[in-house]
Amino acid sequence: MEKYYCTTAIDYVNGAPHIGHAYEKILTDVIHRHYSQRADLAFMLTGTDEHGIKIQKTSAANGMSPKELCDMNAQKFKDAWKALDVNYTRFIRTTDENHEHVVQKIFKKLVKKGDIYKHSYTGLYCSGCECFLSEKDLTEDGLCPDHLKKPEVVEEENYFFKLTKYKDAIIKHIKTHPDFIVPAFRANEVINQLEDIQDISVSRAKSNVTWGIDVLDDPEQVIYVWIDALSNYITAIGYDTDTPSDEFKKLWPVDVHVIGKDILKFHSIYWIAILMALELPLPKHIFAHGWITIDEAKMSKSLGNVVSPTSVLESFNLEYPDAFRYYMASAAPCGKDGNYSDEDFKEKVNAHLANSMGNLLNRTLSMLVKYFDGEIKPEFKKDSPLYSKALDTVKAVKHHFDYFEIQEAAQKIMELVDATNKYVTDNAPWTLAKEEKTEECGVVLATVLEVMCVIASLIYPYCPNIAQLMAKQLSYDINIKLDNITCNNIKTGHLISKEEIKPVFLRLDSEFADKTKK
Ligand code: MSP
Repeated sequence: MEKYYCTTAIDYVNGAPHIGHAYEKILTDVIHRHYSQRADLAFMLTGTDEHGIKIQKTSAANGMSPKELCDMNAQKFKDAWKALDVNYTRFIRTTDENHEHVVQKIFKKLVKKGDIYKHSYTGLYCSGCECFLSEKDLTEDGLCPDHLKKPEVVEEENYFFKLTKYKDAIIKHIKTHPDFIVPAFRANEVINQLEDIQDISVSRAKSNVTWGIDVLDDPEQVIYVWIDALSNYITAIGYDTDTPSDEFKKLWPVDVHVIGKDILKFHSIYWIAILMALELPLPKHIFAHGWITIDEAKMSKSLGNVVSPTSVLESFNLEYPDAFRYYMASAAPCGKDGNYSDEDFKEKVNAHLANSMGNLLNRTLSMLVKYFDGEIKPEFKKDSPLYSKALDTVKAVKHHFDYFEIQEAAQKIMELVDATNKYVTDNAPWTLAKEEKTEECGVVLATVLEVMCVIASLIYPYCPNIAQLMAKQLSYDINIKLDNITCNNIKTGHLISKEEIKPVFLRLDSEFADKTKK
């Protein structure tokens, strides 16, 4: 695989990041890190969506300029992703000069082509969605179904994008590419939405909205949000209407846009039409993940249950974000909603990462030191049926990632951990040692350690720090590509001494964790 290019939605900066934003960035980073184990080049783009009426209003309410608010909050997103070890390749802000400039050129190109035209319009605008809604979209009480707010009646002369021109081509593309929209059950929803699609407004009058990118040659209009926001996926990697950069040529089309289910329409209809109008290849996949609730309730400012991802790291006093990453990335089956609760978090990561995985490595290495002074003798290295299970797990994990089944892939890894624990219990190396069946005991320990190398590679995208700690104690090169993984990783000779053995993950309620918390 030559390259893998993945993107997240870019977040609105009228507030600080919450656990829902974090869910998406972690999912995407796990995908990104997994493909870095398969592709020559893996590239992840994330960023912030900074224009629009919401920012204009929030900044005014806070006595700040829109740019000051954007600068302050964009930094909070960057800081959060750093704390979560979200290893993005590039961070785009829609206020970046280059982005603004290329968006103006894209707009101009589409005007020239006749795909954007000017038109007087009266519509119902929801500032929460940053888009016009039709009567049909509203609840019985005339409210936006997502934001439960009455949309404003807006009467303006705007530029419109000829979405209707691309309707049939989009339907055809969706029908002929069953893996384009993930999960597949959402494709029908999109086709239904396409049935009565209208041309969309892509600008606003400056008299109403000032915080946006100016339309070239028409100073009374600003380019309005979706065409600006969606274009980030190409401007960030050097798209230009004249001469796209080499990087763009290498990375485009994108392999996956990871987005929330609420913005699928914008990606699978609006964005696809814009790309068709620009005559660019289409994304390979659009993966719409579900939503995260808190203690089974929808997160909202009014309920006061908005959870910041960094507060979770702080309250559990986590040295690394790995446990939180693991929990979030495996919070829901592909495309379904998930939930966060402190109790469940603690229980799950204690069970999976501390008791099952961490403890397995720790006690195996301890036995190797106790019985063999930390040495792997050549006669310990034997083939084992557990190896085919390990290599089958590598295949299964790859397959799940190809279908964006990130929770399902994590389950496969834990099944391998469980099978390895069972192998230890069944073979009882402590009994073998007592009975002086030295070689047999050594074979059991070496077998477990071989499989632990495979587990370290597989868990790396979820838990990069834990995986590296595991690899260090196994003298294993974690940078190996998944296609090259074998069960011949452990070198013969001295592997580890007592002092070098370190638990890779401490139970969250362990005495140590409680102590450090105080
Ligand atoms: N700015 C637009 C996206 C433009 S992409 C070209 C936007 N921003 S947002 O800040 O409202 O949302 C950013 C992402 O976070 C979206 O994909 C959205 O679905 C996701 N989430 C916001 N709240 C969420 C949860 N509670 N749970 C999971 N994801 C959620 O939309």
